[in-house]
Amino acid sequence: MKKILLCGYMASGKTTIARLLGKAAGMPVLDLDEVIEKKTGKSIPQLFSQDGEIAFRRLEHDNLKELLAEEDAFILSLGGGTPCYANNHLFLQRDDVVSVYLKTGIEELVNRLRHQGKERPLLEKLPDDELQEYVAKHLFDRSYYYHQAKHVVVTDGKSPEDVVNEIMSLF
Ligand code: S3P
Repeated sequence: MKKILLCGYMASGKTTIARLLGKAAGMPVLDLDEVIEKKTGKSIPQLFSQDGEIAFRRLEHDNLKELLAEEDAFILSLGGGTPCYANNHLFLQRDDVVSVYLKTGIEELVNRLRHQGKERPLLEKLPDDELQEYVAKHLFDRSYYYHQAKHVVVTDGKSPEDVVNEIMSLF
């Protein structure tokens, strides 16, 4: 059984889809942010503010590498930036990995980011009227890395169950 990696922009639904997929496939589910939070005893906002983004990116890389070295199969939701740093996009190509880019359009992302309660250090200082432009540019910059995933699943206009079924058909 392979390791399933879900990547995509912030609010693309990685965590939600990973949980549903875990139930449907009967596989354990992990979330890279949560793994890092447990290991360090700090929240993601604390890590950014106390240790800086570079330290966080190093933790992302080291923990991802460690998880991929394990024998067991699992479903892992990555952080929105994970594939874009430290050559992590190369992990998406491994033979023992099924990697999926959850591709969500800008309108939908902005809508969700406006309404989700989750604390996201990269967005916290951004005025609301700049969110759309920021996300459009950021997504453009990151797109190359997300597209290194072996599969692209468009999420717009689909229920989480539809997305899960589509991913299930890939492995
Ligand atoms: C980040 C996304 C976050 C988290 C951190 C940085 C990013 O995860 O890893 O705040 O660089 O896009 P989510 O995609 O789950 O919000």
